[in-house]
Amino acid sequence: TEVGDFLALDLGGTNFRVMLVKVGEDEKGKWKVETKHQMYCIPGDTMTGTAEMLFDYIAQCISDFLDKHNMKEKKLPLGFTFSFPVRHEDIDKGILLNWTKGFKASGAEGNNVVGLLRDAIRRRGDFEMDVVAMVNDTVATMISCYYEDRSCEVGMIVGTGCNACYMEEIRNVDLVEGEEGRMCVNTEWGAFGDSGELEEFRLEYDRMVDEMSLNPGQQLFEKIISGKYMGELVRLVLLKLVNENLLFNGEASGILKTRGSFETRFISQIERTDSDSGDLKQTYNILTTLGLLPSKLDCEIVRLVSESVSTRAALVCAAGLAGVINRMRENRSQESLKITVGVDGSVYKLHPLFKHKFHAMVQELTPRCNITFIQSEEGSGRGAALVSAVARKMASMLC
Ligand code: BG6
Ligand code: GLC
Repeated sequence: TEVGDFLALDLGGTNFRVMLVKVGEDEKGKWKVETKHQMYCIPGDTMTGTAEMLFDYIAQCISDFLDKHNMKEKKLPLGFTFSFPVRHEDIDKGILLNWTKGFKASGAEGNNVVGLLRDAIRRRGDFEMDVVAMVNDTVATMISCYYEDRSCEVGMIVGTGCNACYMEEIRNVDLVEGEEGRMCVNTEWGAFGDSGELEEFRLEYDRMVDEMSLNPGQQLFEKIISGKYMGELVRLVLLKLVNENLLFNGEASGILKTRGSFETRFISQIERTDSDSGDLKQTYNILTTLGLLPSKLDCEIVRLVSESVSTRAALVCAAGLAGVINRMRENRSQESLKITVGVDGSVYKLHPLFKHKFHAMVQELTPRCNITFIQSEEGSGRGAALVSAVARKMASMLC
């Protein structure tokens, strides 16, 4: 029932976002949330520089946003969606365990991220913020979808990274006392496989992607599925086919030989138009921008490689979600489980076939479960604001 204005930050996806979230009621007394947001691109050297550089940049973006909305004088409550593994010691305190995806700012791992943000805001000194809560993007997504559908007890992201959270029975959560009720668990399933569990499935391309990443040996499940790595996997398969003289007359272009040149969005573009029409124009155009002169057969092979990599991602991700949902059904000793999953992320939303293959496989692997998927819109901002609203209300009740 808490209403008001909140600021939300969203760090960890493709873009860094600052949002103003207005939580209130419409004329009919119905609850509503309105958002205004601005996206900021974080320069690569800021992502991998020092924690101070990164958080100073974040504070600078907030300052810019407040200027644009004439809100510099207000001390707003702030909810921080921080999409990395943390050890939560309080609602506004989380120790970064390790960076994932494209981040590697030194001096942050092992430290309280909210503290780093507060310090950066203090260093600037041109505005004040009341940082009330920090959440993972899966959790923010689940919470925002829950307001539309009370069966939403799972949140999943398939974007730059891949992860899920779900409502676990408190009796199974070792870290808290009590037997009754449920608690949200952020699985950080992207790290599944880091103890060798995926060895029998990982291919030479997976090993190469891992070795060249910022975090070798970590996030092995995520590296099979998410958008940060999918394009690179395709590029490595293509290079292997070139080396075996099966593609592009055995010659790769300088661009194709360059790491990261085959972007994940190319996979979506290739599969969107070319799979339906049988027309390979899109594939041809992409390959020419990569400095290649492909034949029709080359284009067909590239499409097949894209399809194979994205289909594998969808099916492996489905196995992860099915594992979580089957566990929830068993936990609840229910004959059948009706559940909603809130989802966000560019791979899920923008790839033309990913979600269909993913849904079909989840369904196949979860007999006796009736699953609804809903796409979250601006879920991280809304979720962070809602958590902040509740946190503030609870704090005021304790005072
Ligand atoms: C966004 C959410 O829409 O999706 C972020 O607001 C989330 O919190 C992101 O991290 C994930 O998708 P991507 O593709 O941007 O990594
Ligand atoms: C990475 C992060 C995780 C996040 C996911 C999706 O796996 O470790 O916290 O939820 O990416 O953004």
